[in-house]
Amino acid sequence: MLSESTGTVIYSAPMAGYTNYAHRELLRMFGGIDLIATEMVSARSFVELETRGLELPSRLWGVRDEPRPLSVQIWDNNSDTLSELAQRLAFEFKVSVIDLNFGCPAKQIAGRSASGSFLLQFPNRIGDIVRKVVDAAKPVPVTAKIRLGRTRDTINAIDVAQSIEAAGAAGLTVHGRTASEMYRGKADWEEIAAIKPKLKSIPLIGNGDIRTINDALFRIRHYPVDGIMIGRGGIDRPWLFRQIAQALRGEPVDPEPTALELRNLIVKHFNLLKRQFDDHAALILIQKTVCHYAVNQPVARNFRNEICSVKNIETFFHLIDDFFIKTN
Ligand SMILES: Cc1cc2nc3c(=O)[nH]c(=O)nc-3n(C[C@H](O)[C@H](O)[C@H](O)COP(=O)(O)O)c2cc1C
Repeated sequence: MLSESTGTVIYSAPMAGYTNYAHRELLRMFGGIDLIATEMVSARSFVELETRGLELPSRLWGVRDEPRPLSVQIWDNNSDTLSELAQRLAFEFKVSVIDLNFGCPAKQIAGRSASGSFLLQFPNRIGDIVRKVVDAAKPVPVTAKIRLGRTRDTINAIDVAQSIEAAGAAGLTVHGRTASEMYRGKADWEEIAAIKPKLKSIPLIGNGDIRTINDALFRIRHYPVDGIMIGRGGIDRPWLFRQIAQALRGEPVDPEPTALELRNLIVKHFNLLKRQFDDHAALILIQKTVCHYAVNQPVARNFRNEICSVKNIETFFHLIDDFFIKTN
């Protein structure tokens, strides 16, 4: 997934609860992304639902038919379960990339399910998982996403990265925090950079705390990464990727959207959500997103409180119009 136009790859991050079909469509509309990712999908849930003949996980909604390239991220600690889903994604869903999650620090994943960042303490076990999934998905590329280690005292990203490369992965993304840091402090790009000379050939994608065009340009110019991945910055501002791609190409950069453009974007996003979700679920999801868009708007705090307590769609859109049209 190399970028022909900018020389550096720009990926959107998998973000559970956000990067559903509707959000991915918005990202595609703005452009500037070389590879879009789904939310992480539980391989165990997939296999269990399928065995019982039930509907597949909603996080796979849209995946079969939406435009490519598309990376689907999966998680579990059992290589057979992961391979079963990877095979289906490769041959039936025909996705572009399968990404393995070895970074999630959330309790349900890294604690109870002994998956995600829990596995970072076992580089060989990660290697075994990657090898099996690569075999199962061949020729579809398999990538991995990790953190620096479990804790600051046990940073082992180089060992894990080398194990992942030796097992046949096509690329590696590193979030520059340890699992125990969760989202605290700053992503450590020096530690990400230290991995690069220890890899033979696979691309290294750096991730963490890129919120602006300048953040992106600085990381790309100062660290030996082959690309960047952006998560939260792209939830607040899905147009950010396009601006970064423009800046990298030396083109004029689009201005931030006007309040009216934001309002129209919210309507579009809601209509896209409605393709997958009922009114109630779509309203909850759009409320979450609007709070992100409103971060950079004046008098945002009162608006955010109001918008999040609304219980019906008509009132929601009245408030949106008041805020984005009348007050701006
Ligand atoms: C709400 C939320 C959901 C996330 N979901 C996932 C996920 O499904 N898979 C994953 O690998 N990382 C997930 N992450 C981590 C991000 O992909 C990313 O590594 C992290 O946010 C750091 O990048 P950023 O500073 O650009 O946001 C999530 C992060 C947040 C805040």
